[in-house]
Amino acid sequence: MGLHHVILIFHLLAAAIWVGGHLLLSVCYLPAALKKKDPHIILDFEKKFETLGMSSLVVLIITGIWMAYDFGVTFETWFSFSGGFEKVISIKLILLFLTFFCAVCAQFYIIPNLNETNIKKIAAIILSVTAIGITMLILGSTLRYGGI
Ligand code: HEM
Repeated sequence: MGLHHVILIFHLLAAAIWVGGHLLLSVCYLPAALKKKDPHIILDFEKKFETLGMSSLVVLIITGIWMAYDFGVTFETWFSFSGGFEKVISIKLILLFLTFFCAVCAQFYIIPNLNETNIKKIAAIILSVTAIGITMLILGSTLRYGGI
């Protein structure tokens, strides 16, 4: 087993935590919060998941960029959309920025005054981040066949 494979295992573990955590939030906690009109159900989950979730995202970024470099997709070629592999990496990076954008919106504009009336806004963010995560996972799974 080479170093790339060890890095890949960490990437997959982190992906399982990141996507799994958001699926749990979307499928179990969010519907309960919407039904009871209780934003605390979401806030309590976020508080518990924050450290593990953010660490897994950091691991995804470091291991992802590491593996991209292994495949010769270096900083200079990002966003040139020149080949199947490079295309997937660039789309993954764009989706990563979209995830950051969602996180900033949530942390600074929605969570500070979350209540029964704007709970739908945080629902939209949670579902978006979950959908983006699943898309990143599907995109990742195409890389072993050369990308899209
Ligand atoms: C939410 C974030 C992410 C998720 C859920 C995710 C998920 C995945 C999954 C499921 C694979 C499939 C591995 C396989 O087929 O065995 C993969 C592969 C890969 N990902 Fe990610 N990924 C994420 C972020 C990133 C980022 C930010 C980058 C780099 C910019 C990246 C680069 C790669 C590379 C290069 C591979 C190919 C590894 C290989 O087949 O050797 N990923 N990813």
